[in-house]
Amino acid sequence: MTRLTGKTCLVTGAARGIGEAIACAFIKEGAKVYVTDIEVASGQKTAQNLGAAFLKLDVASETDWAQIAKAVPKLDVLVNNAGITGFEDGVVAHDPEHASLADWRAVHAVNTDGTFLGCRYGIAAMRGRGAGAIINISSRSGMVGIPGAAAYAASKAAIRNHSKTVALYCAQNGLNIRCNSIHPAAILTPMWEPMLGDGPDRAARMKAFVAETPMQRFGTACEVAALAVLLASDEAAYITGSELTIDGGLLAGSAATPG
Ligand SMILES: NC(=O)c1ccc[n+]([C@@H]2O[C@H](COP(=O)([O-])OP(=O)(O)OC[C@H]3O[C@@H](n4cnc5c(N)ncnc54)[C@H](O)[C@@H]3O)[C@@H](O)[C@H]2O)c1
Repeated sequence: MTRLTGKTCLVTGAARGIGEAIACAFIKEGAKVYVTDIEVASGQKTAQNLGAAFLKLDVASETDWAQIAKAVPKLDVLVNNAGITGFEDGVVAHDPEHASLADWRAVHAVNTDGTFLGCRYGIAAMRGRGAGAIINISSRSGMVGIPGAAAYAASKAAIRNHSKTVALYCAQNGLNIRCNSIHPAAILTPMWEPMLGDGPDRAARMKAFVAETPMQRFGTACEVAALAVLLASDEAAYITGSELTIDGGLLAGSAATPG
């Protein structure tokens, strides 16, 4: 028996990066996994490589979630992983003085609304069995302010807090549905590419980004996936409403605010 045998799991934003690593780890632990993503071609490719099913899901779309509810009415584990920084199409102002309302809302639509809609669907899909695990991928940025990424930081703080609300709500309603948040920092995934670039200064940039990380390196998506496996498994039966950092020690010290 592996740790997730018999569990049906759905991971959002799983075409690449942390979501893909979580889907892969869940499958290795015996789970049936639905890879979902807004990107259909890469999502299908990832699902095929992993031996998972693929469903198109834009987490910001209530209509898409309604279709997911029809396709996957019963669920044991949901990972709300899809997220954007707001810098996907290049550098735009995201500081509190110059960010546009449209750019602020675009980040919240995916990160905050997407997690809210995911949790709402997850509770409904787990209600039948009265048990399950919801894992929300927040960030170190949900615990500290970021002058140049206001919407991202605020949205990740919202995810952190909403996870606790969901945990309390489920417990109050006699549901054994656990909800926890994971707070990674500096995990080397494609999300970093616009910030690292492929120029000659890439290595120096990478070094600079982890200069204040006690362990002096980026984390890997597989390291985050290992934590998700624990929270998804029955070993975590008494863990709910928790926030777990995975950051090479960054938040343990005072050098927690990114430059
Ligand atoms: N990489 C890090 O250092 C880091 C640190 C802290 C938190 N996180 C969080 O981890 C999660 C995954 O990050 P990653 O580094 O793997 O990012 P990534 O950019 O490599 O992958 C994100 C995935 O989400 C998908 N996606 C984007 N918008 C979507 C939408 N509206 N609906 C569904 N899917 C959508 C993308 O297509 C992509 O496949 C995010 O929530 C991110 O904020 C990452």
